Amino acid sequence: METFKLKDHMLLGTASAATQIEGGELDHTWMDWFHKGHIADGASPARANDHINRWREDDTLMRDMGMQIARIGVEWARVEPREGAFDEAAIAHYVAEVDLLLSYGIRPLVTLHHFTNSMWFENIGAFEKAENIPLFLRFVERMVTAFGPRVTEYITINEPNVYATSGYYFGSWPPGDRNLGHALHVMAVLAAAHIQAYRRIHALQAEMGIAGTRVSYANHMRVFAPKNQLNPLHRLFAKATEHLFQGALSKAMGIGRFGLVIRNLLGEPRGLYCDFIALNYYTRSTVAGLSDGTRAGAPVTDLGWEIYPQGIVECARKLYKIHPLPVYVTENGTCDNTDGFRCRYLYDHLQALCACELPVERYYHWCFIDNFEWAEGEAPRFGLVHIDYDTQVRTVKQSGRFFSDIIREGGVTEAMAQQYVAPQQYRTNA
Ligand code: BGC
Repeated sequence: METFKLKDHMLLGTASAATQIEGGELDHTWMDWFHKGHIADGASPARANDHINRWREDDTLMRDMGMQIARIGVEWARVEPREGAFDEAAIAHYVAEVDLLLSYGIRPLVTLHHFTNSMWFENIGAFEKAENIPLFLRFVERMVTAFGPRVTEYITINEPNVYATSGYYFGSWPPGDRNLGHALHVMAVLAAAHIQAYRRIHALQAEMGIAGTRVSYANHMRVFAPKNQLNPLHRLFAKATEHLFQGALSKAMGIGRFGLVIRNLLGEPRGLYCDFIALNYYTRSTVAGLSDGTRAGAPVTDLGWEIYPQGIVECARKLYKIHPLPVYVTENGTCDNTDGFRCRYLYDHLQALCACELPVERYYHWCFIDNFEWAEGEAPRFGLVHIDYDTQVRTVKQSGRFFSDIIREGGVTEAMAQQYVAPQQYRTNA
């Protein structure tokens, strides 16, 4: 098997989101969605990984596994459970966690919004209304000020397109709306929120005399491929879906280039509104009409998503064309419930990244420990570490050991490829 080295200065670690790991009964949209009976396997986010109590244990395991970086999230509903009433102990908790990571030599990248809203914010229309943006900015300001010089890397908003389409077009996530116009409007509000947060964070860091801060937002990108290359309608739909789902939004968020799809609601000027490319990449979709699917015969994950490693580079290149900046893969991973092919998945995606011409600086695997997978609940397992939800026992998987070895060796050696990758195969979609 081919061996490869990581790119110079490339750092590896994992990504997480507060709602997916912390647990606890909070007054937020995903707790509400659970109470309304919308989680496929009936799991409650109140359980998850109980990370809110076990954070020291988890972060120590991260250190023991050799992680160099960690993307972590802040739960807005924990920090500001009622409008304007900030919980100082909750803020201090996040600061303490960052301090612990730093003491372990793990560099934190902090996500400020990852899908979940406090119910008070949701009840006043959340990001359906541009006039609510200042409420988000007040929370951002509070956290950035509290972190001070400890944190110099931020993601403002995670996957605005997934938040908007799942919640407002497919109706599978809160608030369960099904209207394309609404989804595009929410994306426009999120674009404005990001641009304003980007400016605010830089202004705050400058006031605090903190240099070198990097801010971005996490793009969820897929490759959209026509089902039949020769069919002009399939090609057209693939292009249109790409533009509606991600292309138009990346330009609005990244460089303030708005248009008919993503409107410039607040008259933001053109500019550069990110300091690195943040790419979340999982899959390729096959398009034959307005809905997407998976190519027959393709290698697939346990959720049926096509495994298409080269797509990670294709998507990064698309963003690099908009703004040539350092590339952070802020999420990449797979639902593999038995850890039967995750090593091969890691190998294929990292190899593609390391072979490409782009300045890839970071790779955050999704995710560290199996966790609450939104509307799917606890069934899909994405972690490098296995969790027994009943006992909360964590066990490092074979893929976790492979990941640690990659970090330690600075790449994949022949012996590692033989040990971890060669015995594994993907299953295909019949
Ligand atoms: C999200 C994560 C999620 C992962 C796997 C991404 O779209 O940011 O929160 O768990 O995909 O589905």
